[in-house]
Amino acid sequence: MPFTLRPAVAADMAEIMRLERAGFAQAIQETEEAFAERLSAAPEGCWVLAGEAGRLYGYLCAEFWPLEQGFNPARFARNHAAADTHMLDGEEVYVSSMVVDPATRGTGWGGRLFRDALGEMFARHPRLRSAILIVNPAWDAARRIYRAEGFTEIGEIDGYFASGEGPRLPAIVMRRN
Ligand SMILES: CC(C)(COP(=O)(O)OP(=O)(O)OC[C@H]1O[C@@H](n2cnc3c(N)ncnc32)[C@H](O)[C@@H]1OP(=O)(O)O)[C@@H](O)C(=O)NCCC(=O)NCCS
Repeated sequence: MPFTLRPAVAADMAEIMRLERAGFAQAIQETEEAFAERLSAAPEGCWVLAGEAGRLYGYLCAEFWPLEQGFNPARFARNHAAADTHMLDGEEVYVSSMVVDPATRGTGWGGRLFRDALGEMFARHPRLRSAILIVNPAWDAARRIYRAEGFTEIGEIDGYFASGEGPRLPAIVMRRN
């Protein structure tokens, strides 16, 4: 089924939260308040894959940061307020989250969502010239997409991801210049 990439709107919130719960273990899900704040403070970075009748098949959230040498681990805090970090004239996209509906995974839509949402942001905001993100070492599909899109690993943030009863996992930081 073909889906349409479009900017997210407030009416998408219930579907975005359904995808969030389907995408991540409870310990690392972000809150509806965090998504609503993002949509309000950084609408340029909020994208969805829309089907029919309001149903969503994916979302991608991003914000724009000033480009800095290396990276500041504090900037990647979960549930942080985009109003504190997003700068419309920033030069680097920070992709904070992405999910595809489980029923749709493995058919190329994750790669398309990532590539096309970044493509739209770079086309609409010509100051952008870099992109950064973090990924859990266990998220193989996401890591394949990021590598295929030219991202390389530039460091780690120790103990970033809670994992239920098990040990916390690091976040791998990846960047594409
Ligand atoms: C990451 C995610 C968005 C990818 O969506 P998708 O629609 O499955 O992605 P694609 O179909 O484009 O597949 C991407 C690549 O991963 C591979 N892949 C898909 N599922 C996989 C799996 N379970 N294990 C390993 N590789 C997998 C595909 O073969 C493809 O690789 P290739 O292009 O080299 O063949 C989706 O798996 C998801 O929502 N995961 C949960 C949330 C998450 O991890 N988000 C990313 C971090 S924020």
